[in-house]
Amino acid sequence: MGVKASERLRTTLCGIALKNPVLAASGTFAYGVEFEKILDLNAMGGFVVKGLSREPMDGNPPPRVWEAEAGMMNSIGLQNIGVRAFVAEKLPALRKFDTAVFANVFGYAMEDYTEVVRVLEDHEGLAGYELNVSCPNTKHGGIFFSSDAGLLGELVAAVKKVAKRPVIVKLSPNVTKIEPLALAAEQAGADAVSLVNTLVSLAIDIRTRKPRLGAGFGGLSGPAIKPVALRMVCEAARAVKIPVIGLGGIGSGEDAAEFLIAGASAVEVGTATFWDPCSPLRIAGELDQFLREEKIGNVRELVGTLDWKR
Ligand SMILES: Cc1cc2nc3c(=O)[nH]c(=O)nc-3n(C[C@H](O)[C@H](O)[C@H](O)COP(=O)(O)O)c2cc1C
Repeated sequence: MGVKASERLRTTLCGIALKNPVLAASGTFAYGVEFEKILDLNAMGGFVVKGLSREPMDGNPPPRVWEAEAGMMNSIGLQNIGVRAFVAEKLPALRKFDTAVFANVFGYAMEDYTEVVRVLEDHEGLAGYELNVSCPNTKHGGIFFSSDAGLLGELVAAVKKVAKRPVIVKLSPNVTKIEPLALAAEQAGADAVSLVNTLVSLAIDIRTRKPRLGAGFGGLSGPAIKPVALRMVCEAARAVKIPVIGLGGIGSGEDAAEFLIAGASAVEVGTATFWDPCSPLRIAGELDQFLREEKIGNVRELVGTLDWKR
């Protein structure tokens, strides 16, 4: 399936030219190359690879996914091949594609993040980094990087010292107020913020009285979280000047348009790829169609045009 390169969809993000503003989200698009035979990677706006850690990780015990009402819960536990295997086994194949590839990076201490970025800095083929900050800092008593503005600022500043490529900070929705966190990322030098990651959730088997997921709690994603994500993207976009990337439950071009109107400069598509692996391209095509119908010359004209007046 292919979407023709459309001038209407062309945009830039942190100085990176994108064919369209629809990226595949981390954790739902493997390392990208696995999708080569399913959809035309060269037609994509870009994609974010599965979260990379210093060392390989096995992830959580099964079951690791559960279908919730209008959404999906997962407790994959950040299983991944580790940054060095990514560089040796995946990155060479990714280099041949003409699309923006972002490495999603995570860790449990600041040095984990900086070390992963340091390894990636030595290699060509990436457009930028997305930091998954929804991890507990094991050195600071397990406080989540994503919920403590001070800690988040320190982390972003440390990564910015080693990163020559743009750094996108991926925010968690599991906070009372998103603005201080978006601002902390911006003040520490983040080039953009993306939001939202999954919402912490629980499903119970009432017969066994056990959690449905092997790890107990899991992250909720998909259509169920879209209104919450949209609200938070709107709040973050009003708080910061750096670009905001919106995600959470996007499954159609209309959903994408809502996020852009709320203030996102680009969007990511996650769970929708589970029911339609071609969804990032389909959504880009639907967005193009919407722009054509609305007689909008370029998608950038849509960004942040939410009208509160009744
Ligand atoms: C199976 C699965 C694995 C995920 N793994 C990651 C990950 O490694 N890093 C990350 O930042 N987000 C990860 N996410 C979160 C998604 O990138 C996205 O933020 C979230 O699912 C909300 O978007 P959606 O509703 O379009 O799926 C994962 C989500 C799912 C469903």
